[in-house]
This record gives sequence, C-alpha cells and structure tokens, in this order.
Amino acid sequence: MIIIEPSILSADLTQLGAQVRAAAAAGAEAIQVDVMDGRFVPNLTFGPNVVSALRPLVRSKLDVHLMIVEPERYLETFVRAGADRLIIHQEATPHLHRALQAIRGLGVEAGVALNPGTSLTVMEEVLDSADLIQVMTVNPGFGGQTFLASQVDKIRRLRHMLDARGLRIPIAVDGGIDQATAPLVVAAGATVLVAGSSVFNRKATVAQNIAALRASAEQAAL
Ligand code: DX5
Repeated sequence: MIIIEPSILSADLTQLGAQVRAAAAAGAEAIQVDVMDGRFVPNLTFGPNVVSALRPLVRSKLDVHLMIVEPERYLETFVRAGADRLIIHQEATPHLHRALQAIRGLGVEAGVALNPGTSLTVMEEVLDSADLIQVMTVNPGFGGQTFLASQVDKIRRLRHMLDARGLRIPIAVDGGIDQATAPLVVAAGATVLVAGSSVFNRKATVAQNIAALRASAEQAAL
C-alpha cells in the first residue's frame, strides 16, 4: 500500500487548518510536520503548538520529523502535543538506540531519517528499534528542492537489507517527490511518499495533486 504524506512546510500557512483538512479528505493517510531548529538544518519552522493545533482537525497520522540537534530533549513534548510518530535523524544524536527506545516508551512509533550523505550501515544495529526509515531525497532544510536521483539505489539496498532480515519496516522518502519521481522511488521499494510542493501549490487543488501523485506511484507498484 502506498502512503501519501503531505509535508505542511509548503502549505499556505494562512490557511493551514483548511489545507490539512483538505489533504486528509483527499485520502492522505499521514501528515508530516517538519520541525527545524536553525542548527541541525539552516532553517527555523514549527514547534509543538502547531502539532497540538492540528491534532483535533484530522484523524490522519501526525508524523513529526525532527530536524533538530539533541532530539531527546523534545520527545515527550511532541508526544503530549499529539504526535503519532516521531522521526529523528541518525546524525542528530550519538545515542540512536536509546532515543528510539525512549520514543517507543512514550507509546508512539519511532522513525529514523538518513541524510543523503549517510551510509545505510549506521542502521544495522538498530533495525529492530525502528518502525519507519526515512531516506532523505534532498539535503534537509527547505521545500521545493531538486530530487537526488543518487538516493534511488540507496532505497533499493535498504529494501534488500530489510527483506533479508524478514523486516517489514516501511521506507519513507522525503524531498522532491512528485509525479515524475514517485514511480522511481516506489519501484526501488519505498511505500511512504512525503511530498510538499507537489501537493501544496497553485497549479491544482490539494485533492487533485494528491490523486495525481497517488496514480503515478501506484502505477509503479503494480
Ligand atoms: C525538507 C523537508 C521536506 C520538504 C519536502 O527538509 O523535510 O519534508 O518539506 O518538500 P518538497 O516535497 O517540496 O521537496
């Protein structure tokens, strides 16, 4: 099953509630909230108050992508705000195993995101502690960037690594995902497609964009 997960970073923030509701109504199974601290990435975005504001609006899974240093400091805060899953970066903590255990200990799913320059080998010791692995297909920090085709082979190798161990952990991809790139990542083994500018734009409605993205992705999944 292909999961379409709009990233609110590209949404019209003056209409955030309406945009997120439109995405959920159009079948988005999850919504990604990109939290940036200006240190792990060169940008500043949302805090837990945005998560708690969105929580009552939709039943979709609220996925909080923490692009912050020392994410351990904020795990409980975002879970109390209503997050269903916390995604932390392997590069942001020296204690990945402990951090993933802490997230699960808070009763929510634990995800790991990998920057484009990070090798898959860093995951080998924590595969059974992760509920999702997110392969960044851009260098994190901004929406609207160009998709890094170099990450397609990484997705394929990760899927093989997981299958070889009998692990059905879903692979998410994030950055530059649109109708042209979605089939490439799905054919390589990704099933969760995080998309910002291809969902939230002035070319078409949120519903039309999600339908078009899903159609191109599901074509490749056949
Ligand atoms: C970037 C974020 C992405 C971003 C994706 O660091 O993690 O979620 O919003 O935006 P697009 O789909 O426009 O590349």
